[in-house]
Amino acid sequence: MPKATIRDLGDVRGARVFVRVDYNVPLEGGAISDDTRIRASLPTLEHLRQAGARLVLTSHLGRPKKGPDPQFSLKPAAARLGELLGRPVTMAPDCVGQAVSDLAGALGDGDVLLLENVRFHAEEEKNDPAFAKRMIADSGASIFVNDAFGSAHRAHASTEGVAHHVARSVAGLLMEKELRYLGMALEAPERPFVTVLGGAKVSDKIEVIESLLPRVDALLVGGGMAYTFLRARGIATGKSLVEEDKIPLAKDLMQKAGGKLRLPVDHVVAAAFKEDAEHRTLPVEEVPDGWMGLDIGARTAKAYAEEAGRAKLVLWNGPMGVFEMAPFAQGTLAMAKALADSPGVSIVGGGDSVAAVTQMGLADRIDHVSTGGGASLEFLSGEPLPGVACLEDAK
Ligand code: 3PG
Repeated sequence: MPKATIRDLGDVRGARVFVRVDYNVPLEGGAISDDTRIRASLPTLEHLRQAGARLVLTSHLGRPKKGPDPQFSLKPAAARLGELLGRPVTMAPDCVGQAVSDLAGALGDGDVLLLENVRFHAEEEKNDPAFAKRMIADSGASIFVNDAFGSAHRAHASTEGVAHHVARSVAGLLMEKELRYLGMALEAPERPFVTVLGGAKVSDKIEVIESLLPRVDALLVGGGMAYTFLRARGIATGKSLVEEDKIPLAKDLMQKAGGKLRLPVDHVVAAAFKEDAEHRTLPVEEVPDGWMGLDIGARTAKAYAEEAGRAKLVLWNGPMGVFEMAPFAQGTLAMAKALADSPGVSIVGGGDSVAAVTQMGLADRIDHVSTGGGASLEFLSGEPLPGVACLEDAK
């Protein structure tokens, strides 16, 4: 059921709106190294500002466990957001309390206040109802907008609990876009629908594979997880990453998949897990003694790219190899290019593959680059996301 969005709110001029954003951005030496998530929230914030709403934003950053900790402060995010909006963003010292009430009360139409890291309070992750109620009371908001797709798989006070203490709860425009694109994979996908799955471990993707297998025309497997499947086929894998306890499951998944699940036919094998290790491209049946597979080979990359290029809908999650090391980045690069060139709808989800397309400068040519890591995987597994389930259905 589609969710109501900020477009369904009617007149919000002068209203205080509590907006959950996901500004859990990477920091290096206190500076934001990737502001994608902040940029991704701009359409929602601009829409609400232009409508005259007074915005109280909340987010988490990192996983602080011992109360307030300056290294997890959202201050850098407030500064960056101010630059992007071209107007100052006030930073609150906390997410509850008198200072929050005062600052929220002083907001004019279109003004923006960012509350300090909501995880400085242990009640956040416990989804404590009294804490959720207090956040709403102190912010003076009557409307909850959830635009934090990346955190929608968390049933926390700021992602779910607050919805029970306001008159209206709706999705932001980023949330709407994420649900629309990722939803294409689950609901009547255009065919051929191809999914490319990679990453280190099959255990991280079991639910996604089970959910997508009946829906896809082809599931192309690469990355470390391919080796558990190769072993399940009886192929020797040397020192490649294999989850021994998942071999029976891999057998079972391949059986269920019929011919839909494809595995690499060649790979780049290396003498050690090091950028400068001796390496060569060989058929998957060949792994020199003590060597390990660190990328898909050129034949596999070409076959996967062709299959993805023919798809009307192609979804990619997880790198094809150890792309952080140049000699093992070709497979991931080939997939990123294939998705960028694909005439069909292309969707990239999950932290590492998103980092890969961004690093390769190809993100602009992908139809949808998800801001959700764990959230996109849970969504694709068919799990209801608490941060979405709590929002009003569209009329
Ligand atoms: C993410 O980066 O995946 C989200 O912001 C959620 O963060 P979390 O895994 O710490 O809840």
